[in-house]
Amino acid sequence: MCGIVGYVGPRQATSILIDGLRRMEYRGYDSAGVAVLNGKGIKVQKAEGKLSALVEKIGQETIEGTVGIGHTRWATHGAPTTPNAHPHISGDGRIAIIHNGIVENASSIKKALTQRGHTFASATDTEVLAHLIGEYYQGSLEEAVAAALRDVDGAYGIAVVSADEPDVVVAARKGSPLLVGVGDGEWFVASDASAILEHTRSVVYLDDGEMVVLTRVGYRVRTLEVSRIEKPVNQIEWDLATIERGGYPHFMLKEIFEQPESIENTLRGHLLHEEGSARLSGLNLTDEYLGQMERIIITACGTSWHSALIGEYMLEEMARISVEVEYASEFRYRSPIVDNKTLVIAISQSGETADTLAAIREAKRRGARTVGLVNVVGSTIAREVDGGLYLRAGPEVGVASTKAFTCQVAALALVTLRFARLRHLSVLEGRTFIDALQRIPALIQSILDRAPEIEALAKRCEDATNALYLGRGVNFPVALEGALKLKEISYIHAEGYPAAEMKHGPIALIDENMPVIFIAPKDAVHSKIVSNIEEVKARGGKVIALITEGDTEIEQLADATFPIPETLDLLSPLLTGVPLQLLSYYVAVRRGCNVDQPRNLAKSVTVE
Ligand code: F6R
Repeated sequence: MCGIVGYVGPRQATSILIDGLRRMEYRGYDSAGVAVLNGKGIKVQKAEGKLSALVEKIGQETIEGTVGIGHTRWATHGAPTTPNAHPHISGDGRIAIIHNGIVENASSIKKALTQRGHTFASATDTEVLAHLIGEYYQGSLEEAVAAALRDVDGAYGIAVVSADEPDVVVAARKGSPLLVGVGDGEWFVASDASAILEHTRSVVYLDDGEMVVLTRVGYRVRTLEVSRIEKPVNQIEWDLATIERGGYPHFMLKEIFEQPESIENTLRGHLLHEEGSARLSGLNLTDEYLGQMERIIITACGTSWHSALIGEYMLEEMARISVEVEYASEFRYRSPIVDNKTLVIAISQSGETADTLAAIREAKRRGARTVGLVNVVGSTIAREVDGGLYLRAGPEVGVASTKAFTCQVAALALVTLRFARLRHLSVLEGRTFIDALQRIPALIQSILDRAPEIEALAKRCEDATNALYLGRGVNFPVALEGALKLKEISYIHAEGYPAAEMKHGPIALIDENMPVIFIAPKDAVHSKIVSNIEEVKARGGKVIALITEGDTEIEQLADATFPIPETLDLLSPLLTGVPLQLLSYYVAVRRGCNVDQPRNLAKSVTVE
C-alpha cells in the first residue's frame, strides 16, 4: 500500500521524509518520491523501485529545505514507473501532491481539464488532482484543496505543498488513513504512525472528510466546509514493530483482517447497478468478441488455481459458457486445443509466476486472446496479457495467500457478471447479484469479529497429523484452499475433496484423531452434504462444520460448528474461505510455526 509522510519544522526535511518512508517499506511499494520547499520553489525527486534508488538520486543533488512531503507508491493506476511515481505537480509546477487511494472520476475530470488546455505527464489519477488544485488556487492552498476535493469521488489520503506558501503542508483524508504528528516545534502528517514514531508519540487521527493545515506555528484541523474543528491528541503506546504490522502479530492475520477493505477496492468503480452489469473496459474485449467467444480456459497455480475453479462454477452457471481450469504448469506442456474463439484467463497475485506466464505465452502463440486477473500492477503477466483487471488487494506480504484469494474471487464475480449480462442474465438478476456482492465486505467483517470462536476451534486441530476438508459444488474449491492453507503454514498434512468423493477412498482414513472439516452452507446441495457428515460420524470421525446461521440440523450432527451469514450460493466462497484462513493461522500459531514465512515456500515462484 502507498505511504504518505509530510514535515514542517526547523530541521532539514529530506532525511526525515526518507526515514519515514523507510519505516513504511514493510507495506510494499514500487516507487518513491519527495517534494521539498527550498525557498525558491518546489524541488521534486522521484525514482522507480526501492528507496535506495531515490536516495541515490537525491545524493547526487542535495535537496535543502525544512518543509516537504514524501511518498511510497504501490501502483493502482498506471505502471510502477518514475513518471507515475508521486509527488505529482500542477500544470504551472507551483503545487505538488502525494496521494493514497483512487480518484474514481479521474477520467471525467481529466477530460474537462484537457479541454481547458492541460496536458499530463503520467497515467495517474493523482496528477489529475494536482492540476485540479492548481486551477482552484487563488492564494490559499487549503481553500484550493478543499474546492478540488469537493469535485472528487473516491478514496484519498493526500498531502499537498505550494511554492507560494513555503511554510505550509495541507493534508486531507477520505477512506484512506492519515494522522497528524504533534512534535516539539515541528509537525508531521503520515498515513501510518510508524513513519513518525521516532519523532513523536502524540498524534491526532483524522477522520473521513477532515483536513489539516500544518504551519511553522502549529496545526489546525478543519473539514471541507468548516475552517476549524477540535480534535483530541492521542498518545501512541505501541512499539514500532507492532505498528508496522498494524498492531497484528503477523502479516497473515493483518491481511486476513484487511479483506473487507480489499474486496471493496476490487469492486470499486466496476459495478453498474442500473444496468445490473459490470464495467470492465480494461479487459479490452468487445461485445462482438464476447458474442463469438466459444470457451474459456482459466489457468493459474496454487491458491489462484483454487479461485479459478470457483470462477468455473460462476461462469458456467451464470454466463452459460464452457470453462476449463488448467494448472498453468500442465497447460504449457500439453498441446492445448486453443483458437481465436478461446479466451484464456490467467490469475496471479504476483503476476510473476513462471508457469502462469509461460501458459499465457503459449495461449497467445496458439491464437487465443488473453486476460489477466493480477494483483501486482506492472508485473510481467499484467504487461503481457491483451487485457486485464487489477485486483487492488494491496501488497500481500504473508507468504500464504489470503486477501488475494478473496479478491480474485470478487474479480471473477465481476467478469462473470459482465459476460452473463451479454448472454442470459436479466437486469434484475444482475442487480440482485450486485446487491449481494456489495454486502460481502460487511458480512466478512461480521465473521472476523468472531475470530476468537475460530481460535477456540483451532485447539481441536493442533495435534492432528492429518486433516480432511470436504465441500461440494462451489465450496469444493474452498475445501482445496482450506487444506492448502493448513498444510502450508502448520505442516499438518491436509487434503481437500469433493464431499461425495470421500467414500471412494479417503473414508478409509477416518478415525477419532483426524479432524474432518465440512464446508456446508445451506445451498442447493445441502441435503447431500448432510448425508456425507452422517457417513463420517458413523465411523467415529470428528466433524467441524461451517454452516449457514440457524442450521440446527448440522449443528446437532457435528462436533463443532461455525455459522456463516447467508449470501447467494455462488458468492458463499467469499465467506467460507475466511474462517478457514483463520483456522490455519491459529493452528500454526499454536504449533509455534513461522506463519509469515513458512519453510520451503517463496512468495513469488518465478522458477518452473
Ligand atoms: C498459497 C500460495 C501459492 C500461490 C501460487 C501462485 O498460499 O500463495 O499457492 O497462490 O504460487 O502465485 P501467484 O498467484 O502469485 O501466481
